[in-house]
Amino acid sequence: MASGLKIFYNFQLVKPDFSGVLDQPQAMVVKAGRIQWIGPLSQQPSVKGLAAKVNLKNQKVFPSFIECHTHTVFAGTRADEFEQRNQGVSYLEIAARGGGILSTVKNTRTTSKKELLKLAQERIHHFMRQGVSTVEVKSGYGLDLETEIKTLEVAKALKGPRIVTTFLGAHAKPKEFENYEEYLDFLLINVLPVLKKKKLSRRVDIFIEKNFFEVEAARKYLKKFQDEDFDVTIHANQMSQSGGASLAIELQARSADHVIHINDEDIHEFSRSKTVAVLLPAADLYMQCEYPPARKLIDAGATVALATDFNPGSSPTQDVMLVGLLARLEMKMSLSEVFLAYTINAAKALGLENEEGSLEKGKWANFICTTADMTDFFYSAGHVPAHTLFIRGNKVKI
Ligand code: NIG
Ligand code: FE
Repeated sequence: MASGLKIFYNFQLVKPDFSGVLDQPQAMVVKAGRIQWIGPLSQQPSVKGLAAKVNLKNQKVFPSFIECHTHTVFAGTRADEFEQRNQGVSYLEIAARGGGILSTVKNTRTTSKKELLKLAQERIHHFMRQGVSTVEVKSGYGLDLETEIKTLEVAKALKGPRIVTTFLGAHAKPKEFENYEEYLDFLLINVLPVLKKKKLSRRVDIFIEKNFFEVEAARKYLKKFQDEDFDVTIHANQMSQSGGASLAIELQARSADHVIHINDEDIHEFSRSKTVAVLLPAADLYMQCEYPPARKLIDAGATVALATDFNPGSSPTQDVMLVGLLARLEMKMSLSEVFLAYTINAAKALGLENEEGSLEKGKWANFICTTADMTDFFYSAGHVPAHTLFIRGNKVKI
């Protein structure tokens, strides 16, 4: 019953910093999907009109995962390019030849809305099977009015988790445009009004990189979206010191994502800002590049989140456990830091920290329930320990 009053009781609540579990058995009262009360079972308030009482049988309970950076709506694969890259052709060279992002654009433009929805829905189910209750989904494989809108409409139609849509029209310049400024103007004049009218997204992203969009034009473009109340996120400093990370901080963006090529000054800026550094180590694995300086960021006090960056080019994987595993192995993040990065910090990257990412009064009852040890998570690539996912207090069956 979606709006009923439920009690979940007799569980071990994982501490907010993921350092262990609370001593006493816990209980949680959920009303219309939100946590109304959470605390020791011995202090559980009496409630009237209960729809369900769920004994969680001493299992562990912790907030479910939030995937804060994906490109889930696309058609086709780029497996052929992957082989080329392995044989020494670079990502940027492939892009310059009209492959890369533009090859996925070609496939996405010619695929029907119905087919795109089918493909994306299967992918969303795959995230849910891994304990994910919220997924950010970007556009950016349309690069024309029709396909950008089609992509976001598909994203909005996805069922299961909460979907947060992000407009990434500025992912690459389509062939129809001579220069980058002209294309950004087109997005502002022709696409932005439709996004607003159809309420398709209130977040904007841009890929700031050599051979893609540069900082000055991006600043102007993003400010226009901010004037319309959009939140900003930036694909920043992935392949070079592009200036994207500093721009993100300057604009008080929700997040700057990738951030591999950042220096100590950037790290200091992150530590003083609310902009979340979203690290995408599966992309770094596939791109065979350096990993971002996670340790330095965290030690400086910056907020770090993790995500798959699932897309057909730089990160053709949805493997949440692999992402955390790489964070542990390659970036020396502790297991607790990985859990935080995939829950509350990911919520912050999406501006949802008052609603999700931790189990507190007033937030959605989105949680994972398991008999496994916490150390079993982010340990074996491709393997999520047996668990049950609850979204808004409802058990997810997929
Ligand atoms: O996050 N860097 C830009 N965008 C994606 C790659 C998209 C693609 O290659 O299709 C990324 O890595
Ligand atoms: Fe990305």
